[in-house]
Amino acid sequence: MRKRMIAGNWKMNNTRPEAVVLTQEIANRVPAAWLDQVDVVIIPPFIDLLPALTVLDFDKNEIAVGAQNCYWEDHGAFTGEVSVPMLKDLGVTYCIVGHSERRGLFGETDEDVNKKVKALIAGGITPIMCCGESLGIRDAGEYIEFVTAQVDAGLAGLDDIDMKNVVVAYEPIWAIGTGRTATPEQAEEVCAAIRAKLADMFGAETAEATRILYGGSMKPENVDGLLAMEDIDGGLIGGASLKSNDFKALIEAATK
Ligand code: 13P
Repeated sequence: MRKRMIAGNWKMNNTRPEAVVLTQEIANRVPAAWLDQVDVVIIPPFIDLLPALTVLDFDKNEIAVGAQNCYWEDHGAFTGEVSVPMLKDLGVTYCIVGHSERRGLFGETDEDVNKKVKALIAGGITPIMCCGESLGIRDAGEYIEFVTAQVDAGLAGLDDIDMKNVVVAYEPIWAIGTGRTATPEQAEEVCAAIRAKLADMFGAETAEATRILYGGSMKPENVDGLLAMEDIDGGLIGGASLKSNDFKALIEAATK
């Protein structure tokens, strides 16, 4: 039985004071008992990581904190980058890798994604590896091939032990921030194909144990249908993670 996960990717939103307020609101609204049913992760920008961790620590709250990106070298002349040991030292336990915005806007390749995934696993942080197709690829009917190739490349060289600490997120680009959610059936088709790919790569047992999240305009109105699908184990949420009430509603839905 896979424990569900609701992760809020704040993207480039919230100054430090705003991050403190939002983290505190989420902590206040999410009863501790829900966290037995669902892992909750907030994923603020780098500068908000420490404030968020401090608020949660003060509350003795089990909500986890993740980063949106990292670099694969531990230290050195890499201006503007943040390494895995730096994140680990703060208390960060998850890190998004290969979000479509990083791939599309910042030129991140499958090879970069793979290096980051490996560095995170080596450094004791769980990667949330993203994959997902553009509208053009979907319309061309090539989305299964495309997404499973991203999974293949991003997780290349890992073994079943490594996979105990990997989360995969399927985020069709055409559904991100557009309000146009994938239907539960559309999302399930790809998440099931990802699980089949994981079975090919790492064996059936590992594939069954790996959490696969859906992301793309997930909100309180559509969460139930998506979470009812067999291969969807939770959500990676953008816009709705910035409103504590909506985020709370998504977490509550995942407890049922
Ligand atoms: P939205 O929920 O705003 O569509 O964003 C999804 C996403 O990209 C999360 O990583």
